[in-house]
Amino acid sequence: MTQIHLLGLCGALRSGSTNRLLLHEAARLFGPATFAEASLRLPLYDGDVEAQHGIPQEVQDLAQQIIAADAVLIAGPEYNKGISGVLKNALDWLSRGNQRPWAGKPVAIMSAAAGRAGGERMQVMLRSCLNPFQPRVLPGPEVMIAASDQAFDAAGQLKDPRSTETLSALMARLRDEIALARAAQP
Ligand SMILES: Cc1cc2nc3c(=O)[nH]c(=O)nc-3n(C[C@H](O)[C@H](O)[C@H](O)COP(=O)(O)O)c2cc1C
Repeated sequence: MTQIHLLGLCGALRSGSTNRLLLHEAARLFGPATFAEASLRLPLYDGDVEAQHGIPQEVQDLAQQIIAADAVLIAGPEYNKGISGVLKNALDWLSRGNQRPWAGKPVAIMSAAAGRAGGERMQVMLRSCLNPFQPRVLPGPEVMIAASDQAFDAAGQLKDPRSTETLSALMARLRDEIALARAAQP
């Protein structure tokens, strides 16, 4: 397989985000590949802005990054039982225009959250929000990191070997899915 390029979307903007750590852990465990994180620091979706100025350049750039990636990793916190506004806003903007960046794209989702469920409800909502765009979202294994502020060591690696094992299994599935997606390309 030629060089694989992974793109990460982090549902939290803060610099110390544990979901960003989780994205980097996922990329490390995936193995040989390039990894870049996209910026979700986008303007709030506003139909007037779209009508007057079209789709903002940063949204178009994000769509192009997704199109160019072999697979997308999405990690996000659970905010009040759902996905963060940052992530929802990005999905809403990406649904505009006719580029269809998600169509057929291999996607692995994961969450890190303060609560004991590790963001499980966020993942349910995220699957539901992605479904209309028809990406190849992996069904599992589910990676949900609870008490995420305690879950990573000083090097940014997951402390719990079972979490590492589950994330490794998800990345192995993603590698298989990328191969299938590449084989399906005309
Ligand atoms: C507005 C807000 C709502 C939150 N709601 C939840 C929640 O419903 N469930 C939960 O487990 N944690 C909740 N949290 C805590 C987050 O899980 C915690 O801040 C987490 O570390 C955020 O991820 P990050 O480290 O990537 O920023 C909430 C935090 C904020 C700021």
